[in-house]
Amino acid sequence: MAALSDELKIGSMRLRNRIALPPLTTNCADKDGKVTESILRFYGDRSKHLGLVIVEATAVRADGRIVPGSLGLWDDGQVDGMSRLAAAIREKGAVPVVQLNHAGARCTPRGGEMQGASPSGVRFRPDVDPFAMSIAQIEEVAVSFAEAAGRAVAAGFEGVEIHGAHFYLISQFLSPLTNTRNDRYGGDARARATSALEVLQKVRRKVGSKPALLFRINAVENVEGGQTLEDAVTAGRLLAENGADCIHVSLVTGASWKEENGKRFLVAASALPKNAPAGANVSLAAKMRKETGLPVISVGKLGEGSAAADAVADGSVDMVAIGRQMIADPDAAGKLLAGEVEDIIACKQCMNCFASLGKGPVTCKVNEEMGK
Ligand SMILES: Cc1cc2nc3c(=O)[nH]c(=O)nc-3n(C[C@H](O)[C@H](O)[C@H](O)COP(=O)(O)O)c2cc1C
Repeated sequence: MAALSDELKIGSMRLRNRIALPPLTTNCADKDGKVTESILRFYGDRSKHLGLVIVEATAVRADGRIVPGSLGLWDDGQVDGMSRLAAAIREKGAVPVVQLNHAGARCTPRGGEMQGASPSGVRFRPDVDPFAMSIAQIEEVAVSFAEAAGRAVAAGFEGVEIHGAHFYLISQFLSPLTNTRNDRYGGDARARATSALEVLQKVRRKVGSKPALLFRINAVENVEGGQTLEDAVTAGRLLAENGADCIHVSLVTGASWKEENGKRFLVAASALPKNAPAGANVSLAAKMRKETGLPVISVGKLGEGSAAADAVADGSVDMVAIGRQMIADPDAAGKLLAGEVEDIIACKQCMNCFASLGKGPVTCKVNEEMGK
């Protein structure tokens, strides 16, 4: 039987335990995508008990940010701050990894050639006009991922996570709902994984064999026409064959079409709602593990009760990630490891954290330190 406190190896990374911080956009970088004191504080406060810390979605191009305060690694001038961030995480005994992302048509509107980039022109916001990318543009963005990964490793991160979930750019290529291309980037689940594989291969070539490569994927997209678990497993197998070290299994919990000023757009959610059972995603991650042979990280309300311990106990998943509960109580992982579950200051699952990102730095109804 495995325990949360057991060590774990993922690729070249040696992790002191099996709890990870999943990527959590704080919207606290400066206008140039650089690390700020409040970012150093956020990660420093949360790294002290964790095995792995996956730093929030960090843009590979200036036109691929999720929010105006997204971190960036599109420029060498961003490496110094990211080195301080990696060091701050390592100092507390956790292993630092950074999530690399291009938000595609789900980006914050700040201009740039790839603002609104998408496989097939599906709209995600009323204020960002989507466009279907040319093959040259798809290749250009893959190069940006590789260059950003090179900077991440130069900054001292032990690995990178490619963001292939939540309907950002790579996820849009994977999903049949948002990818209706009829060139080599579209078609069945294998063909839709082409862009993800090209990014992975270019990143691997850039960073060499040592750094760990994680890939975050939607196990399912709970929306009509979205990706199924079978599709995700097909992509997962290809990722495994092409050098991924780990799959971080997330999902789209729900999505709906909205309309403003005659513009129809898709709004998607990536966190389980209050009424969903703790650990509702574990079986999806377990299936991915079984079918790909890769270590998997499971996520989704795993900060409650014995859900995290149960998920790793029988080997269904290798590691658990705890998101909102770590915003509400930075010591939640330490309390879980110490068996002091009743001392955890509970996340209310009110979704205020998500909503706050639309206005500025992330805030929390439980933890008033956030947003200061
Ligand atoms: C405020 C906030 C920001 C998030 N930012 C990211 C992100 O940058 N990248 C990502 O892949 N997921 C992001 N997520 C999703 C989380 O990583 C996680 O999958 C989700 O919160 C479910 O886990 P939980 O139930 O433990 O909170 C974010 C979630 C929250 C609450």
